[in-house]
Amino acid sequence: MAVERTLTILKPDCVRKNLIGEVTRRIQEAGFKVVAMKMTRLTKDTAGGFYAVHKGKPFYDELTDFMSSGPCVPMILEKENAISDFRKLIGATNPADADEGTVRKDFADSVGENIVHGSDSVENGKIEAAYFFAESEVVANLA
Ligand code: CMP
Repeated sequence: MAVERTLTILKPDCVRKNLIGEVTRRIQEAGFKVVAMKMTRLTKDTAGGFYAVHKGKPFYDELTDFMSSGPCVPMILEKENAISDFRKLIGATNPADADEGTVRKDFADSVGENIVHGSDSVENGKIEAAYFFAESEVVANLA
């Protein structure tokens, strides 16, 4: 299986609930290597840019309000089959549909406030990673 990268964001609800450590522990225990990580706060505009694909959808305004409501922790994660394995680890977008033992099932309150983001493809992962990280901030690229 190919080694892939996925971009995750520990969302503002994850940070507010003091779950950065617990969610990161689950990510690492599942075999993902953290190759880039920071804490930042999106503005309504930068959240809108990240989620530009959802512009025009009924939840876009709510989503960009929420994502800019407090600090978040984006990370680039590396692992064989990372895209699919990460989506299994976090569970369905709507926590009501998420499997038992997944991050969203255990911690998310709603489809909008769902603790964590994960890229849906290798290609989008690359675009999303570049939204948050310069090449020089990715550990594999550091001397
Ligand atoms: P995420 O995986 O970060 O990608 C897009 C986000 O839009 C998704 O997680 C949800 O948090 C959010 N989203 C999707 N559908 C809805 C909805 N019906 N209402 C509010 N937010 C939504």
